Amino acid sequence: MSLVQIPESIRNQVADILAGENAATAAQALSVSYRSQSGHAVSLDSAAKRAYLAARMPATYAAAWRALDRMAQAEMPDFESLLDVGCGPGTGSLAAASLWPRLAQVTRSDLDSAWRPTAEALGVASDHAALAQARWLTGAMDTLAFPPHDAVIAVYALNEVPAARRGDAVRNLWRAATRALILVEPGTPQGFLNIQAARNDLLSLGGHVVAPCAHHGTCPMSEQDWCHSAVRLPRDALHRSAKGAQLAFEDEKFAYLAVTRRSAARRPQARIVKRPVAHRGHATLDLCTETGLVRRTVSRRDGELYKASRKAEWGDGWPPD
Ligand SMILES: C[S@@+](CC[C@H](N)C(=O)[O-])C[C@H]1O[C@@H](n2cnc3c(N)ncnc32)[C@H](O)[C@@H]1O
Repeated sequence: MSLVQIPESIRNQVADILAGENAATAAQALSVSYRSQSGHAVSLDSAAKRAYLAARMPATYAAAWRALDRMAQAEMPDFESLLDVGCGPGTGSLAAASLWPRLAQVTRSDLDSAWRPTAEALGVASDHAALAQARWLTGAMDTLAFPPHDAVIAVYALNEVPAARRGDAVRNLWRAATRALILVEPGTPQGFLNIQAARNDLLSLGGHVVAPCAHHGTCPMSEQDWCHSAVRLPRDALHRSAKGAQLAFEDEKFAYLAVTRRSAARRPQARIVKRPVAHRGHATLDLCTETGLVRRTVSRRDGELYKASRKAEWGDGWPPD
């Protein structure tokens, strides 16, 4: 599985922010905050915010990057303006800036204005002009009157909006998106349900789903067998120390949805929705297709397709271009 890592300049800035702190102690403050406030907007004090940078941001960055990369397989990422909502330290816009070459204007927004100095410091460290000069808006994503942007992204944020207001939040973000809305959520049953509800809403508003879905039909996945994917990220020394972990990498599970105003330039016929299983001489792929979920066996007899199946990853489109 290919690895996705936050750029070095950002990791160095995070190390500076945490300099002299015991990352493991800081991370404990973070998990206490999450445990005691599960369900909606998690308010983090400054120690927990610093711990978030070391313990969680590498994974949310990797998930956002992978989702945007998958979207790019269907739609040219030539967006010039981006609104990053529920931005926290600006993770989503950092990932977008590394993939969207024409990005020239960024707005970050969060309910919690105390994230602003960190998001700005990381934006400056990124050496990307649009991130260094990004605008900031404080407020709730379901009510704030956002100015229009080519693309709107909300990474690991919708799940913190109270359930009764999530629909309003999605519709409000869609209003601000002149070309695309991308939602990334934790790869949990609840994260998937948030994505599935947003998909239904956005389709009814005329949106075109460009990823991960290979069709606009009813989603065949369920809460018991939810649509999600995984991205592998390396753990640097700070990350390992924050987590008290030995392993040099971790897998982050995420669910996502990319919806555009115009139909996708190209969309895969199917999406691999589980880790492919390689056997001697054949592989099995679980696919989401226009006609529902299907299990396909690809064998040596299939030649090039078989070779491709050996490299295929969970979440990839199928067949490859
Ligand atoms: C888990 S953090 C994710 C931060 C960042 N997007 C990332 O991926 O690392 C969730 C963020 O959503 C923000 N948030 C929660 N409820 C919100 C709301 N109703 N409107 C806007 N932001 C909200 C929180 O303040 C927090 O910064």
